[in-house]
Amino acid sequence: MIVGIGIDMVKVNKMQDAIERGGKDFIDKIFNPEELERISPSKIYYQRLSARFAAKEAVIKALSKEIELTLKDICILNESNGAPFCKLNKDIDINILISITHIEDYAIACAVAEKVT
Ligand SMILES: CC(C)(COP(=O)(O)OP(=O)(O)OC[C@H]1O[C@@H](n2cnc3c(N)ncnc32)[C@H](O)[C@@H]1OP(=O)(O)O)[C@@H](O)C(=O)NCCC(=O)NCCS
Repeated sequence: MIVGIGIDMVKVNKMQDAIERGGKDFIDKIFNPEELERISPSKIYYQRLSARFAAKEAVIKALSKEIELTLKDICILNESNGAPFCKLNKDIDINILISITHIEDYAIACAVAEKVT
């Protein structure tokens, strides 16, 4: 049964500014090491980080009626075919489906929370 949906959009240049100002401390407040180790520096580095931030916010929205989460409770990773998935650092019987898109200016993500029966 679907118990929540969430969507979020991030402006890539705002995320880039925040990261350039806040440096590693800022990044470490938001992202888990296993997320970061899969994002190598590239011309879409900030797009990909923005998309992961958007995905975390979308997951928080999707689960807002069920559980309170921090950004770091949520891990956004990729399958070997590139499809994103969400791993929660909390033990709950809810499956999260996510989808991500990003272009030069914006990153968008949506999430669906499904109770496992
Ligand atoms: C998978 C596919 C749909 C991604 O579309 P895209 O426009 O390149 O991707 P976007 O820029 O909108 O979004 C990128 C995100 O898609 C997600 N993604 C990648 N592969 C995916 C897949 N197999 N399933 C679901 N999501 C996927 C990833 O989260 C990725 O972001 P990330 O790498 O930072 O995690 C596309 O590559 C594809 O296979 N399209 C089929 C049609 C086709 O072959 N077109 C080309 C010839 S016309």
